[in-house]
Amino acid sequence: MEEKINKYINDITNISNSNELDAESIKEQYLGKKGILSQLLSEFKSLTNEQKKKNGKLLNEFKILVNDKLKNSGVTKKTNKKKSLNIDFSLPSTFEKTGSIHPLSIIKHKIIQIFENVGFEISSGPEIEDDWHNFSALNMPQNHPARDMQDTFFININPDTLLRTHTSSVQIRYMESNDPPMRIISPGRVYRNEDISARANCFFHQIEGLYIDENVSFADLKKIIVYFLQKLFGEKVKTRFRPSFFPFTEPSAEVDIYWGLNNESDYRITKGTGWLEIMGCGMIDPNVLDNVNIDSKKYSGYAFGLGIERIAMLLFQIDDLRLFFENDIRFLRQFRSLNLS
Ligand code: DAH
Repeated sequence: MEEKINKYINDITNISNSNELDAESIKEQYLGKKGILSQLLSEFKSLTNEQKKKNGKLLNEFKILVNDKLKNSGVTKKTNKKKSLNIDFSLPSTFEKTGSIHPLSIIKHKIIQIFENVGFEISSGPEIEDDWHNFSALNMPQNHPARDMQDTFFININPDTLLRTHTSSVQIRYMESNDPPMRIISPGRVYRNEDISARANCFFHQIEGLYIDENVSFADLKKIIVYFLQKLFGEKVKTRFRPSFFPFTEPSAEVDIYWGLNNESDYRITKGTGWLEIMGCGMIDPNVLDNVNIDSKKYSGYAFGLGIERIAMLLFQIDDLRLFFENDIRFLRQFRSLNLS
């Protein structure tokens, strides 16, 4: 045994310690489970006491030599380094994203971004409104037939408290407490007493727009709407303005985009015309400006209102409005890869 150990001592002394890979294999070869040292130790166990005395010292020398060699090569240092440097417990965890952003939020943010980029600010108002802000100030006095167009939820059968039927109420609130020039959009939830179907729900979401300054014209309105639709649907989108009626704007228009007629469901969406109504708009009626004490001789402005669900249905090709509100995870998961930028 003595001879054997001396040979190993000789071997290990002659190994150069320049290469780390070598050092790894030396470690395995000498200190591994079935390595030289463990073989020698088991041999050592069966020696007589006399032989143990003689070989024990030599064996110890050999062990120290192997350890020194490895220390110099950096293998042992390297493993220590790994433990102390590669784990930083103060870093935040990387959880896998399990949720997704709701498709209506994605579209809402897209629309907000487009208008914010051209100087519109965001304003919001309450969902529980009074008659003045939702109707009267918007040129719809009591018994005005246009009130029937918006089936209203009244609260406690009190005709003065209601769930707002449109975000146009925010126009009034903003104009009451600010002076022109003003340029806002107002996203929010609105309520109507309608039967729930694939095309209608008792609540939905709108974005209202309002711009008031001196000399604002219908041309300004047209410019901003076409700009917005091109940003949202692409440069090539075809648009048209159709004369319409809203009590709070004069003149009023509805805006259509050309959706085309490629397949059967397109025919159904556009009722066979290829054109699809996307929003209402117009020049603010001077009566409305007078109602909020803005000088209608000096100032003019435009307003517009659009439904977020309708735009989301078009952009994501969704044919049933109810899907937005059922929170079916199989539906929502499909929007996982989309974000708000
Ligand atoms: N408030 C209208 C609605 O809910 C939409 C609308 C039309 C808003 C014309 C406007 C507008 O600001 O000018 O049907």
